[in-house]
Amino acid sequence: MTLIGNDVIELVTAASLTDDLRQDVFRGLSMRPKTLSSKFFYDKWGSELFDRICELPEYYLTRTERSIMRTNIDAIAGALGPRCLIVEFGSGASTKTTFLLDHLVDPVGYVPIDIARHHLEQSAARLAKRYPDVDVMPICADFHQDLPIPEPRRLQESTVVFFPGSTIGNLQEQEARRFLDRIADTTGPRGGLLIGIDLKKPREIVVPAYDDAAGVTAEFNLNLLARINRDLGADFKLDQFRHEAVWNEGQSRMEMNLVSLYDQDVQIEDRTFRFREGERTRTEYSHKYTRGHFQRIASSYLTEAAWTDPREWFCVLLLRPRTQEASEA
Ligand code: TRP
Repeated sequence: MTLIGNDVIELVTAASLTDDLRQDVFRGLSMRPKTLSSKFFYDKWGSELFDRICELPEYYLTRTERSIMRTNIDAIAGALGPRCLIVEFGSGASTKTTFLLDHLVDPVGYVPIDIARHHLEQSAARLAKRYPDVDVMPICADFHQDLPIPEPRRLQESTVVFFPGSTIGNLQEQEARRFLDRIADTTGPRGGLLIGIDLKKPREIVVPAYDDAAGVTAEFNLNLLARINRDLGADFKLDQFRHEAVWNEGQSRMEMNLVSLYDQDVQIEDRTFRFREGERTRTEYSHKYTRGHFQRIASSYLTEAAWTDPREWFCVLLLRPRTQEASEA
């Protein structure tokens, strides 16, 4: 079946997402330390807040990645070649993809995959209108699940997975490896992975990107509790938690937490969770890589090209899955 335009392939529905959220919250809040999954950040308001984060003066990631793509777009488009099928995991507002599609030679299809249904529908409709020759085939899904990639009407020359924004850095190393291996199955040997990674840099630059002066990131993090209140009927008091962003040098990552300001109980459906004063609930990691470290995580790929900015804050890589012969050679 070929779906065109903004008919969303729904692997995640509002009901299944609430079930998933309930399971995740019950499991995560029973662990020590408590954790909550970052994929639930992206309800309608959370998605809007995230778009605002991307434009914050402190949030260098989006701006730097965009400038790398702008500077090197001819080389990128040349390397990807004509008639690509672009598959994007966690496509959000699809802003960077618009730029990519503007420069690719005759792309045949675009498969945006996102858990945030509202955002996905809007951006898919916008892109379908802008590119009448590109089959836009949105999938509403958690990109960690197995996904059937729909086929465009015109056969693609290659399948290219686009994974910008250093979203890979939100996974822990083992998960990241497994995820990259799965992507290699999606692209096949002739396809590629165009991925953005945030590079290791002084903490004075990194920390403010996750703890901005205007408090947008704090609101984004706390919105997770508001969502749990709304979707699961919980009674989190948002003013009794605070956002915390700490740099972990040993693991080379930012760690986002919600810190309980008091000893308090929170009721979620028929269960009660106790939070101690100062207790942290972890919501997100964001790993920062050296080129060598990332190379080791992506060991199932060969690096065809790597583009960076003059300060080497961020890197966009074009990776090709190693074929059997290449890895034996
Ligand atoms: N992929 C983004 C990043 O690691 C996600 C992100 C940005 C984020 N700011 C955040 C996640 C704040 C949680 C909290 O940069």
